[in-house]
Amino acid sequence: MTERSLVLIKPDAVARGHLGEILARIERKGLSIAAMEMRTATESVAAAHYAEHEGKPFYAGLLEFITARPLVALVIEGPRAIAAFRQMAGGTDPVEKAVPGSIRGDLGLVTGENLVHGSDSPESAAREIAIWFPQLA
Ligand code: CMP
Repeated sequence: MTERSLVLIKPDAVARGHLGEILARIERKGLSIAAMEMRTATESVAAAHYAEHEGKPFYAGLLEFITARPLVALVIEGPRAIAAFRQMAGGTDPVEKAVPGSIRGDLGLVTGENLVHGSDSPESAAREIAIWFPQLA
């Protein structure tokens, strides 16, 4: 079944010059890009996106990190796009959880700078697409 997922190529990945590599991995997998925009996230978009983490110890740092520099937001599309991208991304901790071959496993070291975000369920995807690309929701 065709699905959509909201992907963020986070500011650390853009600053380190990994934009092309991550886009190439998405395309190589066979997923298509339905929307894409480089922008610096506003505080309100970031807070809406990470609402479930409000109150956690890393929340303030997370918001500061995600709003500080440009990121690339995408809507990707394809069969099982949500699970497919989460497998490609690897676990949240780039060293302890993400396996080699995944984006985080190959390119990351730190949980707070883990290069990408991908929606974790159809409900999250719908919510996140409405936040980042209201024109598509
Ligand atoms: P993401 O998949 O975008 O969703 C929540 C983010 O919080 C996560 O990736 C991490 O980048 C970030 N984060 C920072 N510190 C932690 C932590 N200690 N535990 C979990 N997530 C963290």
